[in-house]
Amino acid sequence: SNEPLVIFTPSGKRGNFPVGTPILTAARQLGVDLDSVCGGRGICSKCQITPGVGEFSKHGVTVAPDALSEWNKVEQRYKDKRGLIDGRRLGCQATVQGDVVVDVPPESQVHKQVVRKGAEARDIVMNPTVKLYYIDVLEPDMHDPSGDLERLRDALKDQWGLENVHADLHILQEMQPILRKGGWKVTVAVHLGDEENAPRIMHIWPGYYEETVYGLAVDLGSTTIAAHLCDLQTGDVVASSGIMNPQIRFGEDLMSRVSYSMMNAGGAQEMTDAVREGMNALFVQIAIEAGIDKALIVDAVFVCNPVMHHLLLGIDPFELGQAPFALATSNAMRLRADDLDLSIHPSARVYLLPCIAGHVGADAAAVALAEAPDKSEELVLVVDVGTNAEILLGNTEKVLACSSPTGPAFEGAQISSGQRAAPGAIERVEIDPVTKEPRFRVIGSEIWSDEDGFDEAIATTGITGICGSGIIEMVAEMRLAGIVDAPGLIGAPEQTGTTRCFQDGRTYSYLVWDGSAEGGPKITVTNRDIREIQMAKAALYSGARLLMDKFDVDQVDRVVLAGAFGAHISPLHAMVLGMIPDAKLDAVTSAGNAAGTGARIALLNREARGEIEATVRRIHKIETAIEPRFQEHFVNASAIPNSVDPFPILNS
Ligand code: FES
Repeated sequence: SNEPLVIFTPSGKRGNFPVGTPILTAARQLGVDLDSVCGGRGICSKCQITPGVGEFSKHGVTVAPDALSEWNKVEQRYKDKRGLIDGRRLGCQATVQGDVVVDVPPESQVHKQVVRKGAEARDIVMNPTVKLYYIDVLEPDMHDPSGDLERLRDALKDQWGLENVHADLHILQEMQPILRKGGWKVTVAVHLGDEENAPRIMHIWPGYYEETVYGLAVDLGSTTIAAHLCDLQTGDVVASSGIMNPQIRFGEDLMSRVSYSMMNAGGAQEMTDAVREGMNALFVQIAIEAGIDKALIVDAVFVCNPVMHHLLLGIDPFELGQAPFALATSNAMRLRADDLDLSIHPSARVYLLPCIAGHVGADAAAVALAEAPDKSEELVLVVDVGTNAEILLGNTEKVLACSSPTGPAFEGAQISSGQRAAPGAIERVEIDPVTKEPRFRVIGSEIWSDEDGFDEAIATTGITGICGSGIIEMVAEMRLAGIVDAPGLIGAPEQTGTTRCFQDGRTYSYLVWDGSAEGGPKITVTNRDIREIQMAKAALYSGARLLMDKFDVDQVDRVVLAGAFGAHISPLHAMVLGMIPDAKLDAVTSAGNAAGTGARIALLNREARGEIEATVRRIHKIETAIEPRFQEHFVNASAIPNSVDPFPILNS
């Protein structure tokens, strides 16, 4: 062909186009991902590209520096008014003049990748449910009467190919003055629709709307509610915020909330109201933090456990409190924010991820979305540690899931010196195997207890207790130093060779820190504490072991510790304790708040929603309560690390 060759990078897509073709047009025809909100009018600058100079070796094309047109008036005006980075052009204005290589920078791609910190599992690719479109609407004509909305819909169809777009009543109520104010040019936010809903206009602005719209990814936990506010065009998290779940006043853990609703008429409704009010307060807080109007929040995704799921929806969780633990629905939910009394944009949508089973909720589904065990060639065990541990084991062949009641010990509850993770809590521990002396670090300080400057470092916080990850290290170190034996008994001073072990009733305790001289606490580990940790870790391990039985394997390739707590667990100590199965230490990683990440993925990529729904349908649920082997594993797993299972890698 005599027509110039246009090659796009990074996609490598190429084609021949007549001289004078705008780059945006060429991109569209080749299916190159080049963004545009204004539809090529030189207003939005979303279409920025960088023309290549020199040789593009891969395709053997030598590019003439003048292969694109001179700057036209529209492009020049944009540059003078708003500025453009050197070397950048507006893809809708610059036209093809000869062979040219055109680079599409990440910001100009609609389906750009969002940076995901510390992620190995999967990237987030932008494909939001709500997008902005700038349109020219035909003015009304007495000789050809039609409604303003009809002409607006025609514009969306002709200029953007969007068909069957609906509008809520509030749009009709606002639309006419906005159309006239904008001189028949408006920007609309369109929800692109899904399995259950047609595309819908959510908002309308006169002229070109320069700002953006937002979405919320909400991790609704039984203790805390955490939300990320995301820019739906860039994918950036613009603010993150959290509050205590106000339902705490009805019961600290989920089962006490379920029983509150059983014992009190209207109790479930009270808890529903509390959580919705709490969330509205959180949304106000996060909008203030980001400096935006919360009416610009047009989409939200929620992940939560089954009980929170029901309470959020206003469904009595009664059935979840008793066998056979029937969910009202395990399907994903697509709702309007006002169905849940959430005061964000009046047309905002809410998506709830599907639940896996009566004990394995949408939070576990979100973890599966973020960590994608179903896409892993290696056999990966994903453990989300909380008062209930959600456990996934799988690879591309299949994925199994269960939950295991670990109890609150890992949150520091029911441990004599236990506390929540907060400044002053012991979080890192080492015990000298010869002297049996402990050294430790507390949250909020980098200095170890046997280093200079420790006293100053803890001057403001003091030493207040031991947090969950601290107690895991403590017990594991006690085992390594021979202070605790495999069945879990603390030795007498004669056996252990240290007077830190002292008689405490019928058993022995280990003294970690005596701050009583300064009016501080005396921090000890009692044999009852060891017992509590043994029960918690045995529950976790036996859940994982049961899934390994079902998979017919003795070892896993990778272990991912998910959840805020998981991020703080030392893999070595977790393995010494026999909390997680034997694996190479470097094969144990932490995924941070994977449920929150899963919520963000579902928020930013609408296809991920269908994907996780399909994945969840394929996950096999294992109910630990009816598996006889679970009890057997549990008994074996109360020993440290285990009375039956060998830990060959750990022991080598
Ligand atoms: Fe909007 Fe080019 S497409 S400026």
